[in-house]
Amino acid sequence: MKQMIKMENIAMSIRHMIPTLKNFAVIVIASSAGFGASTAFAAGDAANGANLFKSNICSACHAVAKGGVSPVGPNLFGVVGRKAGSLAGYSYSPAMKASGITWGADSLEKYVMTPSTVVPGNKMISAGIKKDSDADDVVAYLATLK
Ligand code: HEC
Repeated sequence: MKQMIKMENIAMSIRHMIPTLKNFAVIVIASSAGFGASTAFAAGDAANGANLFKSNICSACHAVAKGGVSPVGPNLFGVVGRKAGSLAGYSYSPAMKASGITWGADSLEKYVMTPSTVVPGNKMISAGIKKDSDADDVVAYLATLK
């Protein structure tokens, strides 16, 4: 079963590699960031997650480069393991600051799917990611941002 899932991920990665050269660059970045070393995030495909991050317009609101200026939401560099609402210099909603969450695989997966359910009253306006496996992939990508 595990092996089958892996094969499926590999097949998906290859499928995503074909359309553009840009995808190739993303895969190189994801692997050079050490993805694969962390077993907690092994379920997701970080390269596909990077594509989803862009196509779900997360990137319209969130910078991901260390110290990068973020357009609307907080910079997500190092978000895994960070206390929710704690990035210095960003003006979070009171709800996010009071949520008590420390971002990990489970909480991030739920938040990117249903932000207003996980942190009621938070100010992230996003329809959310619909598919479980897509959420896994985005979280695997977020885990490479370190
Ligand atoms: C329209 C802009 C917008 C979009 C699109 C958006 N976000 Fe956000 N995001 C925000 C804002 C604003 C906050 C801060 C929420 C608050 O303070 O209540 C936030 C907060 C977050 C946080 C918590 C960060 C922290 O420091 O605690 C994560 C994680 C996150 N977003 C991930 C994502 C992902 C993944 C996507 C794509 C599926 C996404 N966001 C799409 C605006 C956006």
